[in-house]
This record gives sequence, C-alpha cells and structure tokens, in this order.
Amino acid sequence: MNPAPNLVLVGPMGSGKSSIGKRIAQRLALQFVDLDARLEEVAGARVATLFELEGEAAFRRREQQLLEEVLRSEDQVVATGGGAVLSASSRERVSERGFVVYLKIDIPQQLHRLARDTQRPLLAGGDRRAKLESLAAVRNPLYESVADLSFESGGLPVGSAAARLCALVQAQWQRGAAT
Ligand code: S3P
Repeated sequence: MNPAPNLVLVGPMGSGKSSIGKRIAQRLALQFVDLDARLEEVAGARVATLFELEGEAAFRRREQQLLEEVLRSEDQVVATGGGAVLSASSRERVSERGFVVYLKIDIPQQLHRLARDTQRPLLAGGDRRAKLESLAAVRNPLYESVADLSFESGGLPVGSAAARLCALVQAQWQRGAAT
C-alpha cells in the first residue's frame, strides 16, 4: 500500500494516459487533470505552438512548474505528458505526491495509435519509428524508476484497460497521507 494523495499516470505518447485516466477518475470519483490540456489553458496556446514559438526547453519549464502546482492538491488523477519524467525534480515530486502508474506500450502499438496524430511536435517530420525508439531508450528507465505499478495498456480497448487498471489500483493504492 502506498499512501499518496494523488494517482499519477506516466508513460509514452499514445499509451492512454488521458483516455484511461479520465475513466479511472470517474470510477474513483476523483478529479481528472490532463497536464497538457491544463498547460494549454494556462498558456493560451497549443503545445505544438509553444514548442514552435518558445522551444522545447521553455515548454519543459512550464510543464515542470505546472506539475508542481497541480500536485499540491489532492484526490486527483493526473495524466502527465510523455516527457514530464525528464525533470529530476518532477520525478521526485510525483513519487512524493502520487501513486504512480506507468502505462506501457510497445512501439508498433504506439505507431498505430498515433498514426493520424498531427499535434505532437516530437513526431513531426522524419522517421516516426526511429523517433519513438530513441525517446523510449531514454525515457523508459525513467518511467520505471518512478512507477509504483506498471500496466501494459496496449492491445486493450480503453474501457477494459481502465476497468482492469482500476481494480489493480484499488488493491494497491491507499489514498491519503500527504508527504
Ligand atoms: C510529449 C508528449 C505530449 C506533450 C508534448 C511532448 C513528449 O504529451 O506533452 O507533445 O515529450 O513525449 P502526451 O504524452 O500526452 O502525448
């Protein structure tokens, strides 16, 4: 049992953090926060536009700051962006303030799910498979390092994935005690 005040979902693009997270929040009667959507609201611009105008480093600073703010609250399911774990301080914070679920997906499933995506700047242009592979090489160990629970989210319809994950989370996450 991990007594954390929030449920935090980490994992690569297309792993279902937003779609599964929304359903889990409903099932557990928690507030759902999609970090990218919140960031777009606060910044008044799309993620892709922020990357283009300000660059990735500035986006990462916004992302880290917002995650820190969001995690001050409790009783939320927080879907992070795929790159949020790149920040050491965010990794520390999600571990302190969240029961962390790593949604795992393999590259072919990711390519399939993201096939029609035009909104993710890190996928723009070039060889998508190679891009996803190089992101995975850097990030998968970071997802692993913060995970209280890992869950294979590929290959399952969103509703079934959410139902299964919800049962696992309920068995392992004891909501409460803030640190
Ligand atoms: C990113 C993932 C995106 C978004 C941005 C950068 C990444 O979020 O934050 O495009 O670095 O992997 P999703 O994981 O929700 O697609």
